[in-house]
Amino acid sequence: MQKSNVKKLSGILLAGVTAVLFNSHSIASVSVEEAIQKRIEMFKSSKANIKKLRRLIRSGDTSEAVPLADFHVAWSKEMPMLFPLGSEASTSNGSDASSDIWDNPIGFKNAIQQYKLKSRELRKSLISADSVLINETFKSFAGTCKGCHKQFRN
Ligand code: HEC
Repeated sequence: MQKSNVKKLSGILLAGVTAVLFNSHSIASVSVEEAIQKRIEMFKSSKANIKKLRRLIRSGDTSEAVPLADFHVAWSKEMPMLFPLGSEASTSNGSDASSDIWDNPIGFKNAIQQYKLKSRELRKSLISADSVLINETFKSFAGTCKGCHKQFRN
């Protein structure tokens, strides 16, 4: 490789690393208001995403569904950071987050863990292209949304 190309490549790599660090930094240090806004935005994307997934699975065309499952795997990892102390629903902040999230942190953590687990299983089944398995994993995956809402959303 030419020297200029090496330089270019390391520049690109450095930019990538910086972007990742910056991202994780910014998500860890967002204000309560920003965290609420960001998580509502993520949940909205999540809903649009699961609709698309359901449509693809029903039509039996799951070749493009893996990236949709990737979203959920990634979101399940970020979710805990967007529920800082003091961000439960109030009359002014537009949130529906139950105070049980902070009263029962282990329960909330478990609900996120289930979501993560089922997202991964769904992803695997989509890769396997086994339609019976896909239907099963999709059902239990969708169940983790409802399960958490029942317990932790007002
Ligand atoms: C571990 C808990 C948990 C899981 C898992 C979860 N949610 Fe939620 N969801 C919440 C909470 C808490 C709120 C309320 C957030 C707020 O208003 O601050 C919420 C809010 C929402 C909203 C309302 C957003 C708005 O417009 O205000 C939608 C839509 C939603 N979730 C969809 C989903 C979908 C789809 C899934 C599964 C793919 C899912 N959620 C999984 C806890 C969860």
